[in-house]
Amino acid sequence: MPQALIVYSTRTGETRNIAELIAEGLRFSAVEVTLKDVTEIKRETELAGFDIYVFGSSTYHGEMMDRMKTFLFLAERAELKGKIGGAFGSFGWSGEAAERIFNTMKNIYGMDMVSSPLMLKFSSIDGGIKVAQAYGKELAGKAV
Ligand SMILES: Cc1cc2nc3c(=O)[nH]c(=O)nc-3n(C[C@H](O)[C@H](O)[C@H](O)COP(=O)(O)O)c2cc1C
Repeated sequence: MPQALIVYSTRTGETRNIAELIAEGLRFSAVEVTLKDVTEIKRETELAGFDIYVFGSSTYHGEMMDRMKTFLFLAERAELKGKIGGAFGSFGWSGEAAERIFNTMKNIYGMDMVSSPLMLKFSSIDGGIKVAQAYGKELAGKAV
């Protein structure tokens, strides 16, 4: 069974909601999921052994949260080249975080990314639940 690691950074819980829905989509597709708040990860060795990596942060003042920036430097040492990747985040109007995380995973780590980052204002509106679950399924589809 493929293994996925989802790491999220959130202030009011919206990005965690999206993370949980992506996890559901992965689990529907028989992928085993580990879900972590970014503050729980202390060393790059904790990133070893997964097939799919999905990183997310909400956007504040045009940027991802600082703790996600710090995490991305840690993840640079984790040898994620060629692994399947995706990125996501809740946002209000501009949503830079998800795209910057996505581009870091693609260009710096050399990961095998899904088509685009997932940006959602709130998981609960505009079909967000289905869209986030579908993102999980898309990620899973690359692992089989
Ligand atoms: C002080 C502040 C600054 C924000 N700056 C941005 C921004 O620059 N661009 C944007 O798209 N959303 C911005 N937002 C909206 C948040 O990204 C949005 O509320 C998001 O749902 C929060 O998700 P979280 O609960 O996962 O942290 C801002 C919100 C606050 C309170």
